[in-house]
Amino acid sequence: MDPLAINGGPKAKATAYNRPNKYDNEERTLLQEVMDSGKLMGTDGKVADFEAEVAQAFGVNHAVMVTSGTAALHTALAALGVCEGDEVITTPMTDFGTTSAILALHAVPVFADIDLDTRLLSPESVREKITDKTRAIITVHMAGMPCDLDPFLALSEETGIKILEDCAQSHGATYKGRFVGAIGHAAGFSMNESKHMSTGDGGFVTTNDDQTAKIASLFRDKTYLRGQKLERGAQPIPFFGLNYRPTNLQAAIAIAQLHKLEHLVARRDQIVRRYYGELADLPHLDFPKIAEGAQPAWWPLAIRYTGNTPTRDELVQVFNAEGVPINTSMSAVKNILRTEIIQTKKYYPLSDTVPSFWKDTTYDPESCPNVDTLQATCLRLPVDQRYTDEDIDQTIAAVQKVWHHYFQ
Ligand SMILES: Cc1ncc(COP(=O)(O)O)c(C=O)c1O
Repeated sequence: MDPLAINGGPKAKATAYNRPNKYDNEERTLLQEVMDSGKLMGTDGKVADFEAEVAQAFGVNHAVMVTSGTAALHTALAALGVCEGDEVITTPMTDFGTTSAILALHAVPVFADIDLDTRLLSPESVREKITDKTRAIITVHMAGMPCDLDPFLALSEETGIKILEDCAQSHGATYKGRFVGAIGHAAGFSMNESKHMSTGDGGFVTTNDDQTAKIASLFRDKTYLRGQKLERGAQPIPFFGLNYRPTNLQAAIAIAQLHKLEHLVARRDQIVRRYYGELADLPHLDFPKIAEGAQPAWWPLAIRYTGNTPTRDELVQVFNAEGVPINTSMSAVKNILRTEIIQTKKYYPLSDTVPSFWKDTTYDPESCPNVDTLQATCLRLPVDQRYTDEDIDQTIAAVQKVWHHYFQ
């Protein structure tokens, strides 16, 4: 084997990864149609078309498009009946948007630990956190991997607590033959630029329940009744809502992106199957355990390094020198329990007053140790549908080279 690149040897991955622009002629054509229509605003054109197409594609009764994943989760929680002072249980290893959606309703985020093998919210830990105030559980399908939903659905059946699926990172993943987002009481998807389907920024809610969809649709549009030929000035405004309306420009791109999803998921799966097949037997590497019956939609693959020498962070440097970018954190914040806002409960930017709904809550930063362990040991192998077979050959060769150097 060649010497490591960090010691002056040749790079295992000497060329850049293939990542052409993911927006192409289909996006351009649909965008042009919207431009030509002269109507960028409104939810009855391309927005309605996208909602119908995505609902059909994911086998769910309704989709309601909004402006971000955070907006989708906020809207969905409101539509599921979450009120001030209710508790919502989720993982502290997610995007902060999952938490802000809860706080936006003056509901209390409660954090349960993950299962280290699956990297996902642990049903056992969630069960321990349930109180008579628990109104919803947000199951976050992190890194494209579906949570094992059956235990959560059983918990819901037993207690009446609602299940909201956070599908921001799992477009097109399935669990026991159904698409994620069609299984819980509702789901929130993000379409920010890093997601499987992207509109730059964007998102949508899915649900099988008519009433939940109706509330979501009103909530994203200041509760205006549209298309009912109301006299100007006669809007009833039945309850609080925000402006989370997407434009037809975003929807045009969303439709084109949806058409690429099946191929994208299949290609990512091919790549990850190679990682499992060719690397999973290496010592000191722990690959995620996938829930029975689940087909992930894969993001960077969250493997764990279980050795001590070299350290995980030294390995990252070694891989970077080989030309393989390995990032280590599962989310922008490693553990939300350790953020300033959660530790201080500073809700308002210019006031230290803790709002009454949050006054009595305390958070122990040590209470989700599996999250800390995963974040301290994680090495994320790159996954992208645009990578060539050669990119993957060289990535695998880089891992084998580094492992040969240290462990054989
Ligand atoms: C798991 C998860 N939930 C929620 C969000 C929030 O989505 P957005 O950034 O579109 O508001 C994200 C986005 O990064 C996410 O990854």
